[in-house]
Amino acid sequence: MATNIKSSIQAWIQDKIGIGENRDRLQLLSKRLDSLAVLQQMTLPVHLPLSEQLQDDALRLVGLTRDDVCLAIHRSDPMFRYPLQHHGGQLEVTLAEYVAAGHGAANVVASMASGAERLLDFGCGYGRVSRFLRQALPDVAIHGLDPKASAMAFQQDTLGLMPHSDGLTYDLLFAGSVFTHLRPLDFKAALKDVVALLSPGGKALITLHPFIGKGYQVFDSTEESALPELEDNLNESDYVSAYCSRDFLDAALMDSCPTASVEVLDGKLFGGSQVYIAIKL
Ligand SMILES: C[S@@+](CC[C@H](N)C(=O)[O-])C[C@H]1O[C@@H](n2cnc3c(N)ncnc32)[C@H](O)[C@@H]1O
Repeated sequence: MATNIKSSIQAWIQDKIGIGENRDRLQLLSKRLDSLAVLQQMTLPVHLPLSEQLQDDALRLVGLTRDDVCLAIHRSDPMFRYPLQHHGGQLEVTLAEYVAAGHGAANVVASMASGAERLLDFGCGYGRVSRFLRQALPDVAIHGLDPKASAMAFQQDTLGLMPHSDGLTYDLLFAGSVFTHLRPLDFKAALKDVVALLSPGGKALITLHPFIGKGYQVFDSTEESALPELEDNLNESDYVSAYCSRDFLDAALMDSCPTASVEVLDGKLFGGSQVYIAIKL
């Protein structure tokens, strides 16, 4: 009798948490949602149809207007689509956060830009930050580089960003939420790339999750894995959520440029959670 009750309770719990008969149903549901999302993505216009009112409201929060900044959002911009999912479809909150993150970062970059003539947004994505860099630094040539072809096309065609071309070096480089997504070997390689892209005396501003105690930790879940329907979706084997220690950063930098200095900027966070690290050659 007791065994019967125990196995009934066990079956009930397994069913509730999806490891009993519900397991297959949850997998089916998840696959169905993914397939519907792929089909829906095919019908979206390249620029999401966000009303002028919505754009004006979001820009007003940072003292800007649509004359100052283009707020076209690409349909595959994970920096917009993932928070939108997190906020259960609340466009107003999501757009306000998007603008606050981009505008805030551009101001931090601008505070380091004295004398800079050419700036690179390294891993620029679909322009959450670069559109505000163009507004904050009208006299600086703003270039972008990203492995996503759709992001580069959108940045050039809609936001007026110049692509990086071989041989160009920069007085200032910004990498927002790029190093937070790389496996350790890719982190080291990308840091070498950053150092090589700087002109003599140049500066880089990268963002990281707050340092962990030691080593390097990666997790598979990212905004890309949550939105497999997006164009140029990045694979979990290359693109992760990464947390590094200060020792790891120092050692990686020692490999790339032993004479570079590192400063953690106090009191400022990118997107509310990432720290800014200034690297000077
Ligand atoms: C989280 S998104 C951030 C995009 C943009 N910086 C922003 O803040 O909106 C990370 C971006 O880094 C790009 N990326 C990934 N690996 C990269 C690498 N090794 N070098 C440069 N960019 C990379 C991705 O394609 C993606 O657009």
